[in-house]
Order: sequence, then structure tokens, then C-alpha cells
Amino acid sequence: PTASQEDLKRVAAHRAVAMVGSNMTLGLGTGSTAAHALDRLGDLLRSGALRGVAGVPTSLKTEAHAARAGIPMLALADAAEIHLSIDGADEVDPDLNLVKGRGGSLLREKMIEGAGARFVVIVDESKLVPRLGCTGAVPVEVVPFGSAYTLGLVRKVFDGVPGFSARLRTVVSKAGDGKEELFVTDNGNHIVEMFFDDGILGDLRAISDSLLRITGVVEHGMFLGMATSVIVAKKDGTVAVLT
Ligand code: A5P
Repeated sequence: PTASQEDLKRVAAHRAVAMVGSNMTLGLGTGSTAAHALDRLGDLLRSGALRGVAGVPTSLKTEAHAARAGIPMLALADAAEIHLSIDGADEVDPDLNLVKGRGGSLLREKMIEGAGARFVVIVDESKLVPRLGCTGAVPVEVVPFGSAYTLGLVRKVFDGVPGFSARLRTVVSKAGDGKEELFVTDNGNHIVEMFFDDGILGDLRAISDSLLRITGVVEHGMFLGMATSVIVAKKDGTVAVLT
């Protein structure tokens, strides 16, 4: 039987959790792959195989999941040290740069994963791309005040770039009236989604700097030089660890 994508996510997650030792403080990622790591951590804590582990959650959703799994948690400010963060990614390029945040949790993820000593990324092989931005949106978190104006400033960064477009992320309103409304992050912000027909061709660092220089931009979902390793679960049943 061929492994489903969900199986591959679980394989990668379990491999990462095998790197966790007792008394470690962990950055707890967000998304469907990271969710398997939370369940595994919960199981190992319950069985007594791991003790004294605490997690710093990267989203409200992860906080709720970790609570259900019985993982003790710490606020970022109260964590003396984050030994290891484990999280999924939307895209991984050959230099282990990432796109994250299609789930909307990029800001807390970047704060927590950037604070730790090691950041292990867990993916199935569908996330490997030749260039960032190949498979979908690259998110940018912006303050809600003037977000449509800030969208215009983001577009200016890519002025004349063929195949570029951007919009504010929307979701179907919870009111049940079928209307669309702006997506709001855990931090109360909006998300600009950037699209590139062939992925981002320019200098990623320079693009990152240009985006972060915009007043109104809080953070973006390109995680450059942050991953210390990437665990890739493949359809043929093998697991690759990229460093
Ligand atoms: C959350 O905002 C994202 O950064 C996720 O980490 C990323 O979208 C990966 O999610 P999946 O594991 O569900 O693909």
C-alpha cells in the first residue's frame, strides 16, 4: 500500500520528536504536520518516556491542541531557553529557505523559531520546491490600520516584476451570510498574499529587507537561513534529513 500524504507528515513528525530529550523546552509549530508532533509528544509524556518537557506554542490553535495533548506550556518571555523548535512549512527551497504562514501563524512562528538553538522542519516531499513562491501565496502580516494602503506599498516592491500579484487574504464570514471578510491573525493583524508565477527570482534577502522597511508591515513568511535541518518523508518510504 502506498503511504498517504498524512502518513508522510506523521513519519516526519515522529522522526523530529525522536530528537526531543527530557527537560527540553520546545517551540511548538502550527499546521497539520506539526499537529502530529504534538500528538506524539503527548503520548511520550503520558507514557513517561519523556519528562519535564515544556512547549512554547506558535499559535492559539497549537496552544489548544497542546493543552488537549497534555503538554505543559510556557510563555515565550518565561522560557529561559528554547532548545528545539519543530514545525512544518509550506515550501522548502534547495538552500533550506522556507515559506511559512499559509495557515496565518507566521509572526509567532518566526519569533519563537528564531529564538531557539535548533529549528527542525518537518515536511512530506511535496513541499520541496526549486524556488520560494512556486506553489502558492507568500504571506506578509500587516497591521489592520490602512492595510489596503500597505498592500499598495507591497505591490510597489515588485513593480514591473512579471507574474507578480498581491491581495489581502479573505475568509468566508463566520456570520453565515456567505460574505467574504478580511482574515485576522492571532495578533489581530491582516495578511497580504503575494503570488509569483514562477516563484521569487530576485535576491531573497534584499526582498525581505524591502518588505520589512515598509511601515505597516509586521513580518513576512519567508524564513531565510532559519532552519537547522529539514526532515523530508518521501513517498518511496525513505526519510531524508537535509542540513
Ligand atoms: C502556519 O502558519 C504555517 O506556517 C504552517 O507551519 C505551514 O502552513 C505548514 O502547514 P502544514 O503542515 O499543514 O502543511
